[in-house]
Amino acid sequence: MSARRKLVAGNWKMNGTLAANAELLRAVRAGADTAACDLVICAPFPYLAQTADALLGSTMTWGAQDCSAHAQGAYTGEVSAVMLTDFGCRWVIVGHSERRQYHAESSALVAAKALQVLRAGLTPIVCVGETLAERDARQTLVVVGAQLQAIVDALKEAGQAQWIARVVVAYEPVWAIGTGRTATSAQAQDVHAFIRQLWRGAFAGSADGLRILYGGSVKPGNAAELFAQPDVDGGLIGGASLKADEFLGIAAAAQAVA
Ligand code: 13P
Repeated sequence: MSARRKLVAGNWKMNGTLAANAELLRAVRAGADTAACDLVICAPFPYLAQTADALLGSTMTWGAQDCSAHAQGAYTGEVSAVMLTDFGCRWVIVGHSERRQYHAESSALVAAKALQVLRAGLTPIVCVGETLAERDARQTLVVVGAQLQAIVDALKEAGQAQWIARVVVAYEPVWAIGTGRTATSAQAQDVHAFIRQLWRGAFAGSADGLRILYGGSVKPGNAAELFAQPDVDGGLIGGASLKADEFLGIAAAAQAVA
């Protein structure tokens, strides 16, 4: 029993159509139990309004998968965190490895995005994680530590103490994303404990409340063991969030250990 409320967030990535989303959102909403667990859908930008409508009046909440590092202005194609607040958005994923990898996002940029999210009153889900080459070179904690330190430094510089408690961290080893190869629960726990320890060093008072999600090939069959780890506070779910029964199965696993 942890004092931290479990959180299961679906990251649809660049998937979906109006028709497919309608059915998925209907089925997830119908089966969602949020008594002991926050359930979140992070949809692509064009479908956020659809997601908001479909979840209206439910206890589920929704978020975006990215936002701009800027507040407003001449940034063609970008979406600001403030814009998202106009629609009832609650969460924004920042620094997903696919953005770090394919869009060359640095940890400094990710930290700037996280601050925009916090400034807008939303909750950033800050993703960190190592590649397979980095794990094999025993650099996991060095890499994750540096990614996290950028957020810590930005938060310290911002000097807004009330923002710290709102941050959610997601540990997503790159080698486990979309590969079907999940981290073992022990591997996840080791890194999660390290993340909490780093947070404790920076912000002593809020480390026990920091929610740290695991992401990377989470399925109904492995979720319970992962979520039972003392420092694993839920999951960031890719592929399995596109299937209502799988997403609900993972949510049920979170409920069961909450
Ligand atoms: P998969 O669950 O498809 O491995 O994706 C994980 C992820 O990247 C969630 O953000």
